Amino acid sequence: MMRHLISAADLTRDDAVLILDTAEEMARVADRPIKKLPTLRGRTICNLFFEDSTRTRISFEAAEKRLSADVINFAAKGSSVSKGESLKDTAQTLEAMGVDAVVIRHGASGAPYRLATSGWIDAPVVNAGDGTHQHPTQALLDAFTMRRRLVGRDTGLGQDLAGRRITLVGDVLHSRVARSNVDLLHTLGAEVTLVAPPTLVPVGVETWPCEVSYDLDAVLPKSDAVMMLRVQRERMNAAFFPTEREYSRRYGLDGERMAKMPEHAIVMHPGPMVRGMEITAEVADSDRCTVVEQVANGVSVRMAVLYLLLGGSEPAVTTTTPAARTEENK
Ligand code: NCD
Repeated sequence: MMRHLISAADLTRDDAVLILDTAEEMARVADRPIKKLPTLRGRTICNLFFEDSTRTRISFEAAEKRLSADVINFAAKGSSVSKGESLKDTAQTLEAMGVDAVVIRHGASGAPYRLATSGWIDAPVVNAGDGTHQHPTQALLDAFTMRRRLVGRDTGLGQDLAGRRITLVGDVLHSRVARSNVDLLHTLGAEVTLVAPPTLVPVGVETWPCEVSYDLDAVLPKSDAVMMLRVQRERMNAAFFPTEREYSRRYGLDGERMAKMPEHAIVMHPGPMVRGMEITAEVADSDRCTVVEQVANGVSVRMAVLYLLLGGSEPAVTTTTPAARTEENK
């Protein structure tokens, strides 16, 4: 296992499957009345959020607390210090306080990489989303959700997503979720198709390990999972499509379009959803939409990542009873 988690592209198939299998173990903890493991007791993890977040921030915090870590939350919004300097200063402060791991979300692509390789800090760094670059734990929780739904909860262990057809739809240009998913899904053997208006397809996409289509209706019947992406208005500096209505008509998912998908196929969304834009309420609230499941799975996947990065060499979940453990220690 690597020291930091910066990009989904850095994960080998074995790393990814190990994280997904460990996350299955962690998910079992969520079914217990007391959802806590002593694994990271005495370790301090700092969540450094320079950009807005609801799901990811809460999910990391829940994961850290379930592993019994001490948690420091740092929301840097509103800071007027220039990015490079503030990151360095913040990193040195954290280092001085002796944090054991840093989870960072930043508007600048490359900020987590800088933090991990600068020498400012010695702790493992986990990228919780950087600019339009990467969001590896999102890709892992998406793969976990797909594996559970498409391969099977009990048979999924040790398995990848070989041959599954996954379609990502929408604002690929500005989406770190799309980039991370393309990388990880490719590593796991899935066949990925991107569907977007030509203006929202990144330059150089032909070098990505996936197909590109502009015709959603043609791709839907051949998809095992369809992931809708939010139009990232906050990252747009120009008009990329004529009107919202036109975007929805061509690239939005409504009930009629969803009916074209195979019966077993699922609809995914990383959240936050813009209902009425990329997805209608009918689809978002349907049984085929896994958005809430993705959030729940996110906690298990982040527990697995933190456990493995912080040197989990012992089993994460002990199955023996406390009495049996006392016996063993005699
Ligand atoms: C995504 C993000 O922030 O990259 N959301 C998330 O982490 N769940 C996607 C988005 O903001 O559209």
